Amino acid sequence: MITKLTIKEKISLLNGKTAWLTKNIDRIQLPSLEMSDGPHGIRKEKENSREALPATLFPPTTTLASTFNKELAYQMGSALAQEAKEKGVKLILAPGVNIKRNPGCGRNFEYYSEDPILSGEMASSYISGIQSENVGACVKHFAANSQEKYRLTIDSVVDERALREIYLPSFKKAVESNVATIMACYNKVNGIHGCENKELLTDILRNEWGFKGLVVSDWGAVSNPVESIKNGLDLEMPNSNGYNSKKIYEAYKKGQITEAEIDRACNKVIELVKKYQQVLPEKANIEANEEIAKAIAREGIVLLKNEGMLPINKTEKIAVVGEFARKPRTQGGGSSNINPYKMETILGEIEKYTTNYAFFPGYCLQEDCFNQELIDEVISEVEKFDKVIVFVGVINEAEGIDREDLKLPQGQLELIKALHRVNPQIIICISSGSVVEIDFEKQAKAILNCNLLGQVNGTPLLDILFGKVSPSGRLNETYAFQLEDYSSSKNFADSNNAVYYEESIFVGYRYFNTFGKKVRYPFGYGLSYCPFTYSDLTVDSSTIKKDKKIVVTCKVKNNGSMEAKEVVQLYIENNDSSVYKAKRELKKFTKIELAPQEEKKVEFILDYQDFAYYDVNMKQFHVDKGIYQIQICKNIEEVILSHNVNKKENEEGFIEHKKTAYHNSEWKITTDDFAELMGRTLPPKSIERTAPFTMDSIPEDFQSTFWGRILYKQLIKRALALLPKDASESDKKFIVVNATQMPIRGIVAIGGAGVSPKNAEGIIDFANGKVIRGIIKILKKEKKYEKNMV
Ligand code: BGC
Repeated sequence: MITKLTIKEKISLLNGKTAWLTKNIDRIQLPSLEMSDGPHGIRKEKENSREALPATLFPPTTTLASTFNKELAYQMGSALAQEAKEKGVKLILAPGVNIKRNPGCGRNFEYYSEDPILSGEMASSYISGIQSENVGACVKHFAANSQEKYRLTIDSVVDERALREIYLPSFKKAVESNVATIMACYNKVNGIHGCENKELLTDILRNEWGFKGLVVSDWGAVSNPVESIKNGLDLEMPNSNGYNSKKIYEAYKKGQITEAEIDRACNKVIELVKKYQQVLPEKANIEANEEIAKAIAREGIVLLKNEGMLPINKTEKIAVVGEFARKPRTQGGGSSNINPYKMETILGEIEKYTTNYAFFPGYCLQEDCFNQELIDEVISEVEKFDKVIVFVGVINEAEGIDREDLKLPQGQLELIKALHRVNPQIIICISSGSVVEIDFEKQAKAILNCNLLGQVNGTPLLDILFGKVSPSGRLNETYAFQLEDYSSSKNFADSNNAVYYEESIFVGYRYFNTFGKKVRYPFGYGLSYCPFTYSDLTVDSSTIKKDKKIVVTCKVKNNGSMEAKEVVQLYIENNDSSVYKAKRELKKFTKIELAPQEEKKVEFILDYQDFAYYDVNMKQFHVDKGIYQIQICKNIEEVILSHNVNKKENEEGFIEHKKTAYHNSEWKITTDDFAELMGRTLPPKSIERTAPFTMDSIPEDFQSTFWGRILYKQLIKRALALLPKDASESDKKFIVVNATQMPIRGIVAIGGAGVSPKNAEGIIDFANGKVIRGIIKILKKEKKYEKNMV
């Protein structure tokens, strides 16, 4: 096809047609390809509207991750793909596999875990599920995109080992699963824009991992379209009204980009469109999808504490407290926000389980949730009940906005305190997309972390509360005591220029467990109604050799009186290396179902690579000589069975590592230690972003000048006007953050805002105080360049 295209046509294909379509070229019968956001439902917008068509709202990714059930991830992927097909969508912009570096990241609900193996394995099954239906998946956001604050401009400063061992493996796993596309991130990685980063997009992704698919930009992420294409990007989204095509064409005429470079990217777009062109719309089975959503919700609920409270007996008199029982929190805000087909609630379903209950709202749904009258109302009654179930959680979590602390809203905390004084038989159910501070632990006899449950949120939770199902979810992130406890909190969302990933590989449990820091609930933790016993560990080799797999087996028995699922976790520990390492790392996991008194044998197969770390001297993964302990664990802190294996020699080329501050058994890392690890001077964390403003300025910077402030307010108004009148608070915050933190060049690139390069110059002139000149340029109607291209 490409031989039939003119150079202008080729260039025009490197940019979207609309927010969700690639360009069509009828002359050569090349149609557009339609894409939609995921990951927990298909968010296809209605024509000329930001409102989405109804779709199944599955539990968000964090809940899926907590199931530790790869089969469910596969089923969810294929169910999503069927709904995509029904809507004519050929590519789903999911999954998101960014590592949960810090629980404050506002988008953690859309990601899997702090651990790359859990994240990669679950995402890989999800991708295989989508692509088994002939729909494409898009793994995002490549890479080191682990905070929302200044997400469009921030520079993630990450050392090579952390990048290779923590932030890249889930993407690599997605490539191994044949993912059709990958989305380059907004942020810079070590000083270079995600969309222009040759090391990531070409050297690692294509040359090293052998990725054959298409690289698409995040929406409006392209800074320099010519550099982007040259360094490995294929498709810029959404539609920049042709202005970026013009830049590429001009660069081509000047010999700054070759036709071969343009062809490379253009071929990828054509290949993608052709791959999915023949796939026709089919009717999705909504009822079956709802069952999958329900199974994920059920298995994604994590029982954190149970002092003889659960399951509830039908004869007990129950107080159901909390507005969330009537208006549940089921998903986060932003591009993943789904318009659900239907919405279950606890109150709507509870009568199927008991009629012996009464409901009290207890709080309102404003930001702090505080309402003394509602607290008084329940307090005056609650003594009469055998048990009190309190539904609480975080009110708003959204793309674009990081959380400032991990606390529950004040009104909910006051409510729990007040209830505890009158009736301590309390069960707390928390809805949240990421960690919350559980400082109310002593005020509850049972606690469930429900994650976010999607549209089927009543029956799965009631099944667990009333003992129809034994809980089997596990934590995908460490629950420490407070935000400050996390190693990354020292360098998180606190600067406008660069964020230092100073903790290196010691993210999440790798920090807590290695340095003996106490946490409230460890990674991989979760209780069941049934006790399990583990026995008979076998390891078929005592030495680790390059081309030899090691088979590990053990037996697990359900000693309980009901059917239950158990997550079996395999970790590897190696402490006698000259390289600094996390004490113990998750390598394999599986979920098994056991009838009462049933025993099953579980088998894991370990590869040589499972023992490896990334050696920065050798520039490859390497297995150091030494003793490795294979451990079968309940969670990261609880080893049940273990067995030693040995790696005898180091390969040629290995150089002993000299000790650094990261080797110390105590955690005392400073920014100087990090600079030494990086081997270069670090960019400033923050810079003063005042006038004179440029195309790289963000509207938020404008607030430092008089004219800038006027413009800033106007931009917010214009952004809010894009939303429907009844938009939620989190949608409003999301759009304001996007509009005020997007660089001016990005506002042009996003196309939909209708800002031309001239208009953008006008915006900058105006903010710089050249008011008349600015207004003239802002009002200027510029011809959309794409008309000249195709
Ligand atoms: C988000 C992506 C999303 C895209 C399209 C961006 O702001 O970061 O995850 O796919 O918008 O909605």
